[in-house]
Amino acid sequence: MPILVDNPKLNNEWFAVAEGIDLDEGPHAVRLLGQDYVLWRTPDGSVGAAPDRCPHRESPLSIGTVSQGVLTCPYHGWEFADGGTCVGIPSNQDASRTPPAANLQVISAEERYGLIWLCPGEPSGTIPEIAHEQDASFRRINTGVDVWKTSVTRMTDNFLDVSHFPWVHTGTFGREQHLKVPKIKLEALDNGWNGYAYDVLAGNPTEAQVSSDSDEDMVQRWMTTGFHLPFTVRSTIRYESGLEHILLLVSTPIDDETSYFTFVVWRNDDFDTDPQEAISFDRAIGAEDKVMLEQLSGVLPLTQTGVASVQSDKASVEWRRRLIELLGA
Ligand code: FES
Ligand SMILES: [Fe+2]
Repeated sequence: MPILVDNPKLNNEWFAVAEGIDLDEGPHAVRLLGQDYVLWRTPDGSVGAAPDRCPHRESPLSIGTVSQGVLTCPYHGWEFADGGTCVGIPSNQDASRTPPAANLQVISAEERYGLIWLCPGEPSGTIPEIAHEQDASFRRINTGVDVWKTSVTRMTDNFLDVSHFPWVHTGTFGREQHLKVPKIKLEALDNGWNGYAYDVLAGNPTEAQVSSDSDEDMVQRWMTTGFHLPFTVRSTIRYESGLEHILLLVSTPIDDETSYFTFVVWRNDDFDTDPQEAISFDRAIGAEDKVMLEQLSGVLPLTQTGVASVQSDKASVEWRRRLIELLGA
């Protein structure tokens, strides 16, 4: 039985499903909580989102076209404008005879941090706040949206967890890391994020040196890791040089066991450095998590007794407690 797909509360939350640039070439198909949606760019530059099913004979609209913000169905050419209003039925002799059911039932869509966020129901949740978006000394780097064959619950749990670093991230920064995790003290961080602050001496191989702006073998990082319900995690990293690196780790349920993953980075580095080079180490770290998580099937048990937890899992334990509350389960 699906746990996430069938949960009505999740419909009222915001989920990132694509990047703004994915809409440049025409309509774009996404899947969220088991439902297919079409996204398109409207004339004022905002985003339209509706079920990916034409009200006429149910063709996917995402295989149609967009011209000047009008979405055209490929099957009989019906046209849909802002707000999903049907503005053209080519076969109709009398334009006044457009049935009310010909309009699309649009859902809420917002563009933030270069990402398209959807809320299928009545928005009660919020899009997580990243204050650095407003700070001119930081630049934002987007990285594309990937599909992971694992549950968002396992992804969020993993992104809150540091004890897997020396096991999973042996090819990147985890090699030299201590196995023992210092006691985690949970707190309310800034801007609605909840989590913990810690510092760590991390491996700094050659591939990491653009990212860390240091050529030492090991590098001190002052970090925070926090969550925003339902499935977003933010990591902040500060280096001795004053360089800051903020990572937004976004997991979106396509269904219970398949997910979109994207991450967004903000950095106060030298803006002339190739952005792709600045995030290539993060990409390599994410690839290590993906390999591990795709071995785990199903939704992570959300009840506290469903899996065994220890001190280093404290952030995940608290996140799951709040998630259960949100799900009303
Ligand atoms: S199915 Fe879309 S216009 Fe007929
Ligand atoms: Fe990881």
